[in-house]
Amino acid sequence: MRKFTETLESLKAQGRYRILALPDGADLTSNDYLGMAAHPALRCAAIEALEGGIDLGAAGSRLLRGHTQAHESLEAYAADYFGAERALYFSSGFQANLALFTSLADRHDAVIYDSLIHASVREGLQAGRARAVKFAHNDLNDLEDKIKLVRDQAQNLFIAVESVYSMDGDVAPLPEIMALARRYDAVVIVDEAHASGIYGERGRGFCWDIVQAQGYENLITLHTCGKAIGVAGGLVCAEVEVIDYMINCARPFIYSTAPMPLQALLVQKSLEVLDTEDGQARRGRLFEICARAKALLGGPGTQVVPVILGTDERAVAVAKSLQAEGFDVRAIRPPSVPEGTARLRVSLSSELAVSELERFAALLTPHLAEERAA
Ligand SMILES: Cc1ncc(COP(=O)(O)O)c(C=O)c1O
Repeated sequence: MRKFTETLESLKAQGRYRILALPDGADLTSNDYLGMAAHPALRCAAIEALEGGIDLGAAGSRLLRGHTQAHESLEAYAADYFGAERALYFSSGFQANLALFTSLADRHDAVIYDSLIHASVREGLQAGRARAVKFAHNDLNDLEDKIKLVRDQAQNLFIAVESVYSMDGDVAPLPEIMALARRYDAVVIVDEAHASGIYGERGRGFCWDIVQAQGYENLITLHTCGKAIGVAGGLVCAEVEVIDYMINCARPFIYSTAPMPLQALLVQKSLEVLDTEDGQARRGRLFEICARAKALLGGPGTQVVPVILGTDERAVAVAKSLQAEGFDVRAIRPPSVPEGTARLRVSLSSELAVSELERFAALLTPHLAEERAA
C-alpha cells in the first residue's frame, strides 16, 4: 500500500526507520536489571511445571475458563508482597495501563499525567474518556496548578506518574505527590515498571514506604513483570474495590485470553527469589554498578542512564561505534523521547562486570567531549 511505503520512506529520510536486531554484545540495553530472565531457579520451576503437565495456553479469558490456580496463586502472593489488598495480573504492562486508564476514569473525571509518562499510559488516556492534562516533568508547582485547573470540574481526579522514568532514569517525588493528592482528594497511579524488584525493602518498589504508612488509600501501583522481575506481564495492586471494578469493567482484562499459566507461575517464582538473600545480593551488585556508572557517566544514579546526544544521526552513529566494540547499546529517538534529545539509553544490570562498564565509559567519553565541543 502506498501509504505504508511513503511513511517508511519518510522515516528513512528522517533517520527514524527502525529495524529489529537480535541481541549482540555485552547487554547495556535490556531491562533485565537483575539477571532474572535466565535465573536457574526459574528454569527449574518451568521444567517442573511442564513435566507436571501444566496447560500451555490459558484457553480463555480470566472470567471464563482462563482463570487457573497459577493466576490465583500469583495474585495472592503479589498482593502480599506489595502490601496491597488485592492484585490483578495482565499479560503485559502495556495492557495493564490500557486497562487502568480506559476503565477507572470516565468522562466526568480527569487525569493529570507527567509529561514523560510511558506510551502505554498515553494510549490508555487517548482511548479513554476522561479529560487528560499534562504537567511538566516532576514539577510539583505545575502539578498543583494543573490540579487547581481541573479539580472543580472533575468528579474523580487521578494523577499518573512513574516512580523511575523509563528513558531518563530519574525518580518522582512520590511523598510530595501523595501529599498533594491527599490535599485535593486525588488518586495516584504509580507505574513502578523500572522500580519493582529493585527499590524499596527487598524490591517492593518506591511506593513501599507509602504503603507501609497509609496502605493503598488513594494509591494504585503497577508492577510490570518483564523488567527486573525477568518474566512478562503486569500486576496492578490496589484496594479490593479497585480490583473488583477492573475485573468487571476493564475491557482489556475482560476481552482477552488470560496470560499463560506458566507465565504467572514464573512471575511468582521470581518474586519469591527476589525476596531471598539471592535477590538482595543481586540488588547489591546492581547498586554498586549504578554508583560506578554515576561516577563515570553522570546521570541520575539509577540503573537507567540517559546519554543525551541531541540529533538522531549522532545517537545512531555513537551507538554503532560502541556496538562495533562489542556493546549492545541502542539509540533511542523520537517519538520514544522528546524531539532533540535522541540518546543512548544505557541500561545497567547486576550481571554487568565493572570492568566492562569501565571499558564502555572509556570508549564513550571522547564522543561526549566531541558533543560538548560541537
Ligand atoms: C514505564 C513503563 N510502563 C509500562 C511499560 C509496558 O510494560 P510491558 O513491557 O510489560 O508491556 C513499560 C515498558 O517499556 C514501561 O517502561
